[in-house]
Amino acid sequence: MLHSALMNVMVKAARRAGRSLKRDLGEVENLQVSMKGPANFVTLADKRAEEMLYSDLTKARPGYGFLGEEGGIREGTDKSHTWIVDPLDGTTNFLHGIPQFAISIALQRDDQIIAGLIYNPANDELYMAERGGGAFLNDQRLRVAGRRQLNECVIACGLPHIGRGDFALAQKEMGALQPKVAGFRRFGAASLDMAAVAAGRFDGYWERNLSAWDIAAGIVMVKEAGGTVGELDGGDLLKTGNVVCGNEFVHGELTRILRPLK
Ligand code: IPD
Ligand code: CA
Ligand code: CA
Ligand code: CA
Repeated sequence: MLHSALMNVMVKAARRAGRSLKRDLGEVENLQVSMKGPANFVTLADKRAEEMLYSDLTKARPGYGFLGEEGGIREGTDKSHTWIVDPLDGTTNFLHGIPQFAISIALQRDDQIIAGLIYNPANDELYMAERGGGAFLNDQRLRVAGRRQLNECVIACGLPHIGRGDFALAQKEMGALQPKVAGFRRFGAASLDMAAVAAGRFDGYWERNLSAWDIAAGIVMVKEAGGTVGELDGGDLLKTGNVVCGNEFVHGELTRILRPLK
């Protein structure tokens, strides 16, 4: 477990927003579901949780900037620190009552993510990582899986959906990997996919076109668990959101197989 003052702030904020999401989970019919685009839902639950996180995090660290999925960027006076927050990652799961969703909080200092937290209030799994301090699931230290044979690996992915992504490329990617791996999983919350890589549950994960708030906490989580995180085409990961991760070997193999397909 990480007990720094910074992590305590993040944990407290996540637990309060988590209680709000749990309350809302039982009242989905009252959540004023709307669509930001095709298959891109937003609800009162997302907005309430984001406002709580904004209020708690900026009260504890006045001046830090705040980037949230629902409210966009709110500049602070301290230009080197920014919170990057997804108040509800996995909204589609949430709306279907599937208990696979999370709050994701990261702190960026200049160009680096220095802390990350991913919290699933449905099962109370709390993932924490601080740069140089390791990664933890509740009080248990995390380490990525050690497999070095792709045909033994379970690989998680995200698939494009209506309105977003390149369907043909996704088919090619699945087709190229399918005969080489033990199995695919598509769970529907990017932050938890990365947390599961950090925990050694998934051997690897890739997805394209994510946003900074989906992956920022996951990046430090996987790295602090001894894994490797990269950008599928070699670009700037927080900008493109084309993520690939795993242990060094799995990351290398996924990159080698997927990169030429684009
Ligand atoms: C989504 C989830 C999902 C991924 C989508 C994301 P949201 O986030 O992380 O797994 O495939 O692309 O947008 O919108 O539920 O916060
Ligand atoms: Ca969303
Ligand atoms: Ca998200
Ligand atoms: Ca979200």
